Amino acid sequence: MGKIGLTMEVGSDGVALITISNPPVNALALSILTGLKEKYAEAMNRDDVKAIVLTGDAGKFSGGFDINVFEKIHATGNISLLPGVSIELLTNVIEDGKKPSVAAIQGLALGGGLELTMGCHARICTPQALLGLPELSLGVFPGFGGTQRLPRLVGLSKAIEMMLLSKFVSGTEGKNLGLIDELVSSSELLRVSRLWALDIADKRKPWVSSLRRTDRIGSLSEARMIIKEARQLSKRIAPNMPQHNACLDVIEEGVLFGGYAGSIREEKVFNEMVLSDTARSLVHVFFSQRLTSKVPNITDIGLKPRRIRKVAVIGGGLMGSGIATSLIRNNVSVVMKEINSKFLQKGIKTIEANLNGLLKKKAISKEKMNSALSLLKGTLDYSLFRDIDMVIEAVIEKVSLKQSIFSEIEKVCRPDCILATNTSTIDLNIVGEKTTSQDRIIGAHFFSPAHVMPLLEIIRTEKTSPQVILDLLEVGKIIKKVPVVVGNCTGFAVNRTFFPYTQGAHLLLHLGVDLFRIDRVITNFGMPMGPFQLQDLAGYGVAMAVKEVFASSFKGRTFDTELVQMMVEMGRNGKANGKGYYVYERGMKPKPDPSLQPIIEKSRKLANVMHGGKPIIISDQDILEMVFFPVVNEACRVMDENVVIRASDIDISSVLGMGFPRYRGGLVFWADTLGSKYIYERLKKWEITYGGFFKPSRYLEERAMNGTSLSLMAQGSTPTPISRM
Ligand SMILES: NC(=O)c1ccc[n+]([C@@H]2O[C@H](COP(=O)([O-])OP(=O)(O)OC[C@H]3O[C@@H](n4cnc5c(N)ncnc54)[C@H](O)[C@@H]3O)[C@@H](O)[C@H]2O)c1
Ligand SMILES: *[C@@H]1O[C@H](CO)[C@@H](O)[C@H](O)[C@H]1NC(C)=O
Ligand SMILES: *[C@@H]1O[C@H](CO)[C@@H](O)[C@H](O)[C@H]1NC(C)=O
Ligand SMILES: *[C@@H]1O[C@H](CO)[C@@H](O)[C@H](O)[C@H]1NC(C)=O
Ligand SMILES: *[C@@H]1O[C@H](CO)[C@@H](O)[C@H](O)[C@H]1NC(C)=O
Ligand SMILES: *[C@@H]1O[C@H](CO)[C@@H](O)[C@H](O)[C@H]1NC(C)=O
Ligand SMILES: *[C@@H]1O[C@H](CO)[C@@H](O)[C@H](O)[C@H]1NC(C)=O
Ligand SMILES: *[C@@H]1O[C@H](CO)[C@@H](O)[C@H](O)[C@H]1NC(C)=O
Repeated sequence: MGKIGLTMEVGSDGVALITISNPPVNALALSILTGLKEKYAEAMNRDDVKAIVLTGDAGKFSGGFDINVFEKIHATGNISLLPGVSIELLTNVIEDGKKPSVAAIQGLALGGGLELTMGCHARICTPQALLGLPELSLGVFPGFGGTQRLPRLVGLSKAIEMMLLSKFVSGTEGKNLGLIDELVSSSELLRVSRLWALDIADKRKPWVSSLRRTDRIGSLSEARMIIKEARQLSKRIAPNMPQHNACLDVIEEGVLFGGYAGSIREEKVFNEMVLSDTARSLVHVFFSQRLTSKVPNITDIGLKPRRIRKVAVIGGGLMGSGIATSLIRNNVSVVMKEINSKFLQKGIKTIEANLNGLLKKKAISKEKMNSALSLLKGTLDYSLFRDIDMVIEAVIEKVSLKQSIFSEIEKVCRPDCILATNTSTIDLNIVGEKTTSQDRIIGAHFFSPAHVMPLLEIIRTEKTSPQVILDLLEVGKIIKKVPVVVGNCTGFAVNRTFFPYTQGAHLLLHLGVDLFRIDRVITNFGMPMGPFQLQDLAGYGVAMAVKEVFASSFKGRTFDTELVQMMVEMGRNGKANGKGYYVYERGMKPKPDPSLQPIIEKSRKLANVMHGGKPIIISDQDILEMVFFPVVNEACRVMDENVVIRASDIDISSVLGMGFPRYRGGLVFWADTLGSKYIYERLKKWEITYGGFFKPSRYLEERAMNGTSLSLMAQGSTPTPISRM
């Protein structure tokens, strides 16, 4: 075990057992695929081999095609790096070979892994194994014959559902669907698979070639109806992506002209999809996510993370309760401290509600919920703090309060206890100013709701020790968050980068653009909601609390008006009281509120940014760029100041923290598809007309002049391949 490669053992029963080995998930690397061709050629030639069993090492079949190959193709543009597998190996050698193959499946068979099993003449599987074709989530579709064979095994409707939604099924479900021929325990897997292979060879069991089956496809008119409905579905769930429709085109080809013709079309369109912007973007995000936990001078200097068994959370508000939920759900003990028993009870109730929510969604079991709750203790003083490994402070945003809490806990906790704060805008150096433990102070910025949102911004100061950063990275891993290590400026990386998002939308509004049109343009681009709806959801308190901080930290490039203040005075609090820019009614979609118009007009007059009082006339593309280019510009400053260690950390943060469309690769990646020069020129023009809010940063200007990509940071950076355009 542990070696990359393939083994073949021929038993005295005449069965050749071929085992794929490539830890951790037996990904189908190019060398594995080449090796498979060789082993198959040998098995077909040897007289002592009657039948073949194909399986994977270490309890798993295979996690699919090696995604590194896609990355290599994107970097070089060389599509010939893709090996001929579908027809050359799966159809011609395995399925049409003169000796039968049986797939012995356990653990997982995903993507190319499952496709390999479908080229075999039978599939034997453990009940719990995970089966699926998740390729569409990487911007491509199954390219080893899966678009043809899955419909022929499980029916068109189910196959389309599994592919379009990247939906996995268990071995047991697979058996009910017709994908699996027999369920067995892990210990019986190879014995039963060998018997099946021999039974097929000796014609005691049918010799089935999936690609030639037609019995599950149904009539032509039924098939057409199913595909038509699927096209409507993909228009709804993936309006800006090409791979869903391309997948349906290829499936349709097979329905009309047979599985072999479908395979030929599949191979051709697959090659086009691999090179699409969508695939480039999704593969980039896949690798960006894995890169965040590698931090130069922290994770590569031989330090070992300490075990964090017990965490104290100070403050049982929304944030504290969410953080505590994440911890206990992942087997970390929590002491939650509040200032009085009323607030403490409320915090515990919130945690119970959070867990109940997860239970309802079947994300956890009843036992898991109970064992999680048994790890929670509430307290009103510091007596339980003596053996705590880490404190996370999540009280209200007030510097003096945070400072006094830090000097208190410094006295009661162990001298190596980590002191983390959830502060969002307060400079960490100030929080720690009154303590002597500045090497142990670190920021942990969770996104609300903390037990659901996957991003964790880890904020280090110049004094935070590498060990403490490493420990918090480890905690992030334990509670299954994606950690991003950043520096300690106002708003940190994410909220700082996105401060112009809301402000730019407000500027456009005050230049005379319709508010709901702005939100519509932004959601059409792929954001989950527009900036105004987001503000309704977050509540106006946040907006009003941070505007001063932003205005003083980002002098000369902020835009502010009285609008939100006036709305609050008119009894509007956003989604919280059902009245914001939109009207919110139970069980209804938010509706634009036309009665807002007079307030907006008044605010426009006060702001007085319209030239001659006339609203500007602009296109949807202008709206999109005037909202997002200032955000890109701020990302440039964040990179210039080395707040992040690499551009792709902004990409993953924008996707996981702000809902920036994953299929556009994240903020900086997307900007690079447009080009630094274009973005610079647009901003420059708007700066002349509308002022400093749009002023291009030095970083952007330099890259525009040099014609280089924005992701290319000056030092300590790992540039990512640029997409064309
Ligand atoms: N072949 C495809 O088209 C395709 C598409 C999506 C996902 N997948 C596979 O499905 C599985 C689950 O997806 P997930 O998003 O939940 O992943 P995940 O984040 O849960 O990771 C699952 C495993 O993938 C491994 N992995 C890392 N780099 C890999 C690579 N280059 N090739 C293959 N595996 C790699 C990781 O080590 C990890 O153990 C993964 O194994 C993934 O590779 C395959
Ligand atoms: C593309 O890849 C193929 C297969 O590895 C190789 O033979 C070929 O030389 C490459 N072409 C270029 C231009 O690099
Ligand atoms: C939970 O943690 C305890 C002690 O830290 C450990 O003994 C136990 O095995 C863990 N349980 C799980 C399910 O990880
Ligand atoms: C920190 O926690 C408090 C109390 O729950 C909350 O009001 C505040 O928004 C949190 N800040 C961050 C950045 O999470
Ligand atoms: C922390 O913030 C201060 C003040 O903004 C700054 O001087 C310092 O360089 C920052 N530290 C890091 C590690 O970014
Ligand atoms: C930071 O951004 C998150 C995500 O949009 C938001 O929920 C939070 O309120 C923001 N905090 C501040 C202080 O802007
Ligand atoms: C861009 O060019 C200038 C000189 O023209 C050079 O000083 C600078 O380092 C270059 N920057 C990058 C990122 O290549
Ligand atoms: C790592 O630390 C060394 C020594 O402190 C320093 O010279 C180097 O620049 C650092 N590297 C990075 C990538 O920060």
